Amino acid sequence: GRLRRTFRWAWRITYLSAVGLVGYTCYIVYQDRHPEPQFEPDPTKKTLVILGTGWGSVALLKKLDTENYNVVVVSPRNYFLFTPLLPSCTTGTIEHRSIMEPVRTILRHKKAAVKFYEAEASSIDPDRKVIKIVDNSEIQGATSETEIPYDMLVIGVGAENATFGIPGVREHSCFLKEIGDAQQIRKKIMDCVETAAFKGQTSDEIDRLMHMVVVGGGPTGVEFAGELQDFFEEDIKKLVPEISPRFKVTLIEALPNVLPSFSKQLIDYTENTFREEKIDIKTKTMVKRVTDTTVEAEVSRPDGGKERVVIPYGLLVWATGNAVRPIVKDLITKIPAQKDSRRGLAVNEYLVVQGTRDIWAVGDCAVAGYAPTAQVASQEGNFLGRLFNNMAKTENHESRIQELSSKMNLQAGDSAEAAHEIESLEKQLRRIKDIKPFRYSHQGSLAYIGSEKAVADVSWWNGNLATGGSLTYLFWRSAYLSMCFSTRNRVLVILDWLKSKAFGRDVSRE
Ligand code: FAD
Ligand code: NAI
Repeated sequence: GRLRRTFRWAWRITYLSAVGLVGYTCYIVYQDRHPEPQFEPDPTKKTLVILGTGWGSVALLKKLDTENYNVVVVSPRNYFLFTPLLPSCTTGTIEHRSIMEPVRTILRHKKAAVKFYEAEASSIDPDRKVIKIVDNSEIQGATSETEIPYDMLVIGVGAENATFGIPGVREHSCFLKEIGDAQQIRKKIMDCVETAAFKGQTSDEIDRLMHMVVVGGGPTGVEFAGELQDFFEEDIKKLVPEISPRFKVTLIEALPNVLPSFSKQLIDYTENTFREEKIDIKTKTMVKRVTDTTVEAEVSRPDGGKERVVIPYGLLVWATGNAVRPIVKDLITKIPAQKDSRRGLAVNEYLVVQGTRDIWAVGDCAVAGYAPTAQVASQEGNFLGRLFNNMAKTENHESRIQELSSKMNLQAGDSAEAAHEIESLEKQLRRIKDIKPFRYSHQGSLAYIGSEKAVADVSWWNGNLATGGSLTYLFWRSAYLSMCFSTRNRVLVILDWLKSKAFGRDVSRE
């Protein structure tokens, strides 16, 4: 009887929680679809131009009270991309649209309307305070180039792929930064597989086509190699068994180990897991040249000597980190104080671009002393949002104080009331003006390493916790799910995970 009662209660609680969760999701979805009416921005307000729709800029937009400024957003991409799950899109574990959030939806939920232009900022003139924008999309109208004046400018254009000028990289390899890159990789994997399975294919050619080479053992390269091996083990092996013994993933890294930013224990764990997964790791190997079918690399031998190796490949994914975008390089040359900047725009502790007025930078294009990660970019964007909200409040308070002071001189009768209001406004002003400089709070690093295992270096109390394995993988999944931009993204990602688990990944080549 007692057991039955406990069971009944457990069932009731589960049922009520499920109903609650579904109800809450429906409420959020309804609110998303029926936003409050928006009002037009006041043209007398300052124009705040934001470049980019990535982690930094979108975090800023989320926090910003848009009614205080005329906000203009410029980006060649009319969506936000949740990059941490991008490696999963290369194999179809997640469909690419599930991790994209249209910027129009984001902006529609702001109190005051925000202008968005799908364009690339091609140059910034800090003296005239204008930016030039160009529409480089497929369809262009009569006007595809114009200028936008700004009072305040935030640069959040991110970074491009580093190739270090190595010959052949741009022509022959795939990168992994944007949605288009993931789609291209997905297509190419299956093209390699289908070509290897072609009637009468030569043995050497099958080996080459089935060899997937990843250059760069940072988190991007490691996560992609893990996803690729999963795809092979869980799907390709079953669907194209005749060529499966020839499938091989090789990860090439110039340094002595992969994941240099993780703790030693997790580096060892990752390298051991890769060995078990049969991913070949070639460390101390620096790629020097790439052709359409081979990678040429220099291997540092233990005796200190160097050896040149030629590695044939079918698919080559290049993930060797970030380089500065042309627009940022161009701005650097215009600001004398930035003459020593190599990795991006040097910013001060309030993220103001050094040597400029009214220009701020966030994320991968800013050098503030932190790693180029989404975590840093979003905290910086959030900080700027608060800063701008405070600046607007300060201006409002100051003009109100001025107005009250002049009133006090004219009408002596109201002066007691006005003095009281001034005192309270000044108190608020002191609090608002006391903005602390930006401080990054590191929440930890997470990376998926394949076969349902992940590694995590997370801050725990005052110390650090390094863990790896299947439980960490569940933590990885729930952490990324909770970080997804919207409820829509979250629901789509969960459905994709369930779909690929139940039916396998879709191997059709679009
Ligand atoms: P981005 O997010 O790159 O956004 C830049 C924006 O600027 C884009 O909208 C772009 O279209 C736009 N833009 C470009 N040029 C111009 C121009 N000329 N004018 C106007 N707009 C322009 N970090 C983590 O912390 N955790 C992770 O798990 C993680 N996983 C990752 C996985 C992958 C595959 C990759 C590639 C990166 C990952 N990162 C991760 C790093 C993270 O994505 C970046 O640090 C982050 O995107 C930086 O944000 P950002 O706003 O500076 O730039
Ligand atoms: P990265 O800069 O972290 O790693 C690139 C690697 O390529 C380096 O280890 C470098 O030694 C190697 N390399 C460079 N040139 C080479 C050559 N010619 N031959 C062989 N190896 C070469 O780049 P990645 O992985 O793209 O990451 C970029 C940023 O995004 C980092 O800050 C990273 O932390 C962040 N990120 C974080 C993720 C996570 O937390 N899960 C996932 C992906 C990226």
